[in-house]
Amino acid sequence: MIARIASRGVHALALLGILLPEGALSLDVASPNGRITFEVDLDDAGRLAYRVLHDDEVVVAWSRLGFVLQDAPPMNEGFRVASTGIVEGEERWEQPWGERREIRDRYVELTVELEEGTALGRRMTLVTRVFDDGLGFRFVWPEQENLGVFVIMDEETEFVLPGDPAAWWIPAYAGNRYEYLYERTRLSGLAADPLLRAVHTPLTLETEDGLYLSLHEAALTDYASMTLEARAGSVLACDLVPWSDGTKVKASTPFRTPWRTIQIATRPGDLIESSLILNLNEPSRIEDTSWIRPMRYVGIWWSLHIGKETWKTGPQHGATTENTKRYIDFAARNGFGGVLVEGWNTGWDQGWLERGVFDFTTPTPDYDLEELARYAREKGVTLIGHLETGGDVHGFEQRMEAAFEQCRRLGIRAVKTGYVSQGQGIRRYDADGNLIAKEWQHGQYMVRHFRKAVERAAAYGIMVNVHEPIKDTGIRRTWPNMLTREGARGQEYDAWSEGNPPEHTTTLPFTRLLSGPMDFTPGTFDVLIEPYRPDNRVHTTVAKQLALYVVIYSPLQMASDLPENYEGNPAFGFIQAVPVDWEETRVLNAAIGDYVTVVRKERGGDAWYLGSITDERPRAFRVPLDFLDPGREYVASIYADGSGADWKANPKTVRITRERVNAETVLRIDLAPGGGQAIRFRPMEP
Ligand code: NOJ
Repeated sequence: MIARIASRGVHALALLGILLPEGALSLDVASPNGRITFEVDLDDAGRLAYRVLHDDEVVVAWSRLGFVLQDAPPMNEGFRVASTGIVEGEERWEQPWGERREIRDRYVELTVELEEGTALGRRMTLVTRVFDDGLGFRFVWPEQENLGVFVIMDEETEFVLPGDPAAWWIPAYAGNRYEYLYERTRLSGLAADPLLRAVHTPLTLETEDGLYLSLHEAALTDYASMTLEARAGSVLACDLVPWSDGTKVKASTPFRTPWRTIQIATRPGDLIESSLILNLNEPSRIEDTSWIRPMRYVGIWWSLHIGKETWKTGPQHGATTENTKRYIDFAARNGFGGVLVEGWNTGWDQGWLERGVFDFTTPTPDYDLEELARYAREKGVTLIGHLETGGDVHGFEQRMEAAFEQCRRLGIRAVKTGYVSQGQGIRRYDADGNLIAKEWQHGQYMVRHFRKAVERAAAYGIMVNVHEPIKDTGIRRTWPNMLTREGARGQEYDAWSEGNPPEHTTTLPFTRLLSGPMDFTPGTFDVLIEPYRPDNRVHTTVAKQLALYVVIYSPLQMASDLPENYEGNPAFGFIQAVPVDWEETRVLNAAIGDYVTVVRKERGGDAWYLGSITDERPRAFRVPLDFLDPGREYVASIYADGSGADWKANPKTVRITRERVNAETVLRIDLAPGGGQAIRFRPMEP
C-alpha cells in the first residue's frame, strides 16, 4: 500500500520555497487548466509510484518507477525526498518549418529530488511537466560521488491502465523494424499473446471512458528506445531495446532519460493537434535555419520499386545521366524543389546488403555526377543524394563525412539515408574490421548513430530524410535539418507486396504520425501499376492520393509516380499547388482507422487546403468551413472521387470542380470506398 501523508497544497508550499518533510509522502501537480493531475507517491519503503487523473477520473493508475543497474544496487527503493519545487512555464516559439508556425508551450513542472537513505546516498530527480494535453516525466542524475559511469539493465517505468482499453499497435523486436500494419485489439489481448514480446511507441489507446491516449517518448538522444511489454492486468511495462551484450543503457552522470510522454485527448483529432512532443525537446541548435527549406520532390524511385528500371547498372539502369536530366527537367518545369536519385553510386551491382559495398561518393560510370549537380543547380533544383547503408553503419560512419562534404561541394542540399537490415542486424566491428556484435536498429548504439548523422549533416548544411530510421521523438526541434523519415509501411509496399489496405492511411495519422513527419511518398496516379506490376496495386482511388498530401504531414513530400503518368492529367494541378509548410493545422473530424479530415493553412499566404480520406467504406460529411476568414470569399478547387469511383473497381476517376465559398458555407464531402477528397481554398481578392 502506498502511504499518502501529504496531499494537495504542495503547489503553494513549494512556491513559497518551503521544503517538504523527508520520508513517505505524496505530491500532486495539475495542468494549467486544472484538468490533468499527476500524483507522485513515495511509500514507507521509499519506493516511487505515480498516477494520472483527467477530470478526476484515473487515466493511469498507480504505476511504479525505478531502475535496475549493473553491478550496483537498484535505484528503485529506499529513497526519501530531498526537495521539491514547482515552476510554471509559458512561452511561444516558432518552428522554422512545420505543421504550424507558432507553438504555445504552457505547463506546470514538478521537480522531486530524491536521495537514497543508505550510505551510498545516490541522488536522482524526477521532473514532470504537465500540459493541458498531457504530460511528460523524466529522470535526471546529477554528477555525484557514488554514481559516475553506470549501466542501466532495466527501466521499471510502468503504465497501469484502468479497465481494458483498445490499442492500436505494431510489434517491436520484429524483422521489419516499424514496417507493420497496425492491429487494433484490447490490451488484454496483447498481454495474452505469447508470441508478442513488446510493442512500439507511439502506442495509441482508447480507454473504456472514451479518452484517447498516446504513450511515447520525447528527446530520445542517448538512450535505448522504449518499447512496451503488455502484462496481465492492463499493465504496460517499459522494455528498453538492449545492446547485444544484454545491457540497456550505458551512461555516466550528469545524465537524463528521455521524457516518457502521455498525451490525453477527448477526441482523436486532438492527438494530432498536440505539440507536446516538440515542447519537450530542446530549442534549435542551428542558429541560421534559412538554408533548411521544405520541398516537394520527384525521383528515380518508383520506377525501381515497380521494376521498370533497376538500381544496378545495365540496360535498365535508372540512374543514368540522361534519365536524371529528364527528371530534373520535369521537376524544374513543375515547381518541384528536388530530385531523388537511387542507384547512382557503386555497390548496387554487388548485392548491396553485403558489408562495405558502398563508398557513398563514387558514381556509376553512366552517371555524370558533376554534370548532373551543375545541371540541377542551373535549373534551380537540388539533387537528393541517396545513401543506402544496407545496415553497414560502421562503414557509413567511416565515410559519412566524405559523403556530406561531396554533397556540400556539389550543392546537393539533401540526402536520403537508408538502413535496410533485418531485426538485430546492425553489424558492429572493431578497429581491425572484426565483427564484434549485431545490434538492434532501436537500441542505444543506433540512437547514437542516428543523432550523430543528423548533427554531422547539419555541419555541412545538409537536410536529412531517413529511411529505416529510429522512431521520431521530436528532435526536429533541436535539429531542424532532420526533415522527415520513414518508420512505417510507406506506399512502396503497394509496389511489391500485398500492399497497404485502405485503412492503413486512416490509422497512421493517429499512430506513427503522432511522432512526427513521414516520407510516405504519396501521389501515385497509375494506381494499377500498369503494365509493370499486374499483380500489385495501390489500394486507393487517385483522389485519395491527392488528399494524402494534406493528411500526412511531411516537409519533404514526394510525387512518387513516373513523370509520364502526370503529364496531361489535370489532377496533377493539386500536387503542383499543395504546400509543404504550414501556418496552422486543424482536424475537423476523425475516427481512428475509419476516416479523417484535416485542414491546413499555407505558410506565408492565405490559402487553406483540406484533405479527407476514408477506409474501404464510402462516407459523406457536412463540413462547416468556419476555419476560413470571416467576411472573405474563396474559390474552392475541389478534387473529388468521380462518379462511381471505388478503389477496387474504378479508382482513377477524379472530378475537378470549382465553387465559391465562405466561412458560412457547409460543404458536402463525398468519399468513395477507399477514396478521398482534396480541396484548395483561395481568397478571391488578391
Ligand atoms: C528501402 C527504402 O524505404 C526505399 O525507399 C529505398 O528505395 C530502398 N530501401 C533502397 O534503398
